[in-house]
Amino acid sequence: MNAVNRWVEPDWAKRYLSERDGIPHRMEGFAVMMEVLPPSPRRVLDLGTGDGYTLGLLRGVYPGVEGVGLDFSAEMLGRARERFEGEDGVEIVEHNLDDDLPARLGRFDVVVSSFAIHHCVHERKRSLYAEVFGLLEPGGTFANLEHVDSATPELHREFLTAINYTPEQDDPSNKLLDVETQLEWLRAIGFENVDCHWKWRELALLCGVKPR
Ligand SMILES: C[S@@+](CC[C@H](N)C(=O)[O-])C[C@H]1O[C@@H](n2cnc3c(N)ncnc32)[C@H](O)[C@@H]1O
Repeated sequence: MNAVNRWVEPDWAKRYLSERDGIPHRMEGFAVMMEVLPPSPRRVLDLGTGDGYTLGLLRGVYPGVEGVGLDFSAEMLGRARERFEGEDGVEIVEHNLDDDLPARLGRFDVVVSSFAIHHCVHERKRSLYAEVFGLLEPGGTFANLEHVDSATPELHREFLTAINYTPEQDDPSNKLLDVETQLEWLRAIGFENVDCHWKWRELALLCGVKPR
């Protein structure tokens, strides 16, 4: 499978950040993510945190929640550190999601990710989901707002048109996978109440809860 990942390039990160607000329906996905999370988490983890956007949302909804954000892009890590400068309770960690999650992270009540895990190859997506299960406290929630595959090439082209991209602008780092396979994996790993709670074309919110 395609091993390209352009997200280490500073300009790739900058391009995304300049276009992010224009991605249609994106905020609907975040609104549903906030809705399905448990009422008062103590610790949250954000995989592929970028500039800390999702972690920032969580800290807004749960003031004082302890947060850890992981990413491997120096550009993004710098911006995330700037976002949380002077705040207690946030740690931004350099980590390549292709590698096992750092052992020292501890346990979390919530693990989130937004538009990041599809840059890992499928085999790694699955093993990462299993690692997330291991990091969650019993009753903890995993919420992955993700870029997923279309059912057909034609629908993929329509998605690109809907986000104002030409096929040439498509991200070669993407390793898109369908929703059903990912939900099946989450169930097989042991998550319960697994579902896709929101979807618009190739954007989907995949969630599961670790049994108590
Ligand atoms: C589309 S951006 C999303 C950033 C942020 N979560 C958001 O919603 O704005 C994808 C993020 O995943 C990160 N990423 C991609 N591949 C990664 C990897 N192998 N390890 C760590 N981070 C990765 C990129 O650096 C980037 O910050």
